[in-house]
Amino acid sequence: MDLWQRSAVVTGAASGLGAETARYLAEEGARVAVIDIDAERLQAIAEEIGAAAIPCDVSNAAAAEAALRQAREANGPARVLVHCVGRGHSRPLVSTDGPMPLDDFRQLVEVNLISTFNMMRLAADDMATLEKTSSGERGIIIFTASVSAYEAQSGEAAYAASKGGVVSMILPAARELGPLGIRVVGVAPGLFGTPTLFAIERNLDSRLARSIPFPHRFGDPAEFAMLVVHVIKNVMVNGTVLRLDGGLHR
Ligand SMILES: NC(=O)c1ccc[n+]([C@@H]2O[C@H](COP(=O)([O-])OP(=O)(O)OC[C@H]3O[C@@H](n4cnc5c(N)ncnc54)[C@H](O)[C@@H]3O)[C@@H](O)[C@H]2O)c1
Repeated sequence: MDLWQRSAVVTGAASGLGAETARYLAEEGARVAVIDIDAERLQAIAEEIGAAAIPCDVSNAAAAEAALRQAREANGPARVLVHCVGRGHSRPLVSTDGPMPLDDFRQLVEVNLISTFNMMRLAADDMATLEKTSSGERGIIIFTASVSAYEAQSGEAAYAASKGGVVSMILPAARELGPLGIRVVGVAPGLFGTPTLFAIERNLDSRLARSIPFPHRFGDPAEFAMLVVHVIKNVMVNGTVLRLDGGLHR
C-alpha cells in the first residue's frame, strides 16, 4: 500500500522505535496520529512531524477505543496501524526476595500482549469499513515482537511469554483478516538503541553489541522504520514475523 495521504496510527510513538516510525510515515506523506501514555514527549513528536497527538494507555479497552475514535476524527479511519508499545523486563523467577511477584508478570502481559490484541481488534474493525485500495487492500497491522520470543535469556521468561503471545497471534489473525484485505505482520527486533535498551546497557561498544554477527552495533531505530515502510508498501508480506537483528541469536 502506498502511504501518500493514508491515515496511519503509530502507538508507543513518544520514544524509540515508535517515534522514528512516526517520522518515517509522515515523511512518506501519511496523515499520522501518534499514541502514547507519555503525553509530554508525545506532544513534542507530534509537533515535530505535524501529527495528531493522542495520549492513551492502550492496554485499557475503553481508552484505546476512544483514542482510535480521536484518530479517526483527525485523519479518517486508519489504514495502517504500527503498534510499538511495549517494555522490556528482566528479573529472576526466584531470588533471595522470594518468587517474582505475579503482578510483575500480569503488568508486563497487559502492556506487551493485551495492548497488542486490543489495538488489533479495534483497528481491524475500522479498516473493515474502508474501500479497497488499488492493491486490493483495506489495511495493514504491524506488531512489534522481539527475538526474545524465540530465544530469550535467563531472567526473561516473563518477557519471552509476553512477546511469544504476539508472535503466535500473527498467522491466525492474518488468516482471519486476509479475506477482508487486511494484512497482519510482525517485526522482531534484536537489540536496538532506544531508551528500553539503554536502561540495561549504556555502552554502545559493549560486549553485547559486539556479539551481533554484523553489524557489531545496536540497531538504529531508523532501520526499524525503514522495514516498516517496506512492509506497508509490499503487499506480499503477510502473516509472518520478520527478524531484524543483524544475525543475532542470543
Ligand atoms: N529496543 C530494543 O532493543 C527492542 C528489542 C526487541 C523488541 N523491542 C520492542 O519494541 C517496542 C518499542 O520499544 P522501544 O525500544 O522503542 O521502547 P521505548 O521505551 O523507547 O518506547 C516504548 C513506548 O511505549 C510507551 N508505552 C508503554 N506502555 C504504554 C501503554 N500502556 N500505553 C501507551 N503507551 C505505552 C512508552 O511511554 C514509550 O514511549 C517494544 O514493544 C519493545 O518490547 C525493542
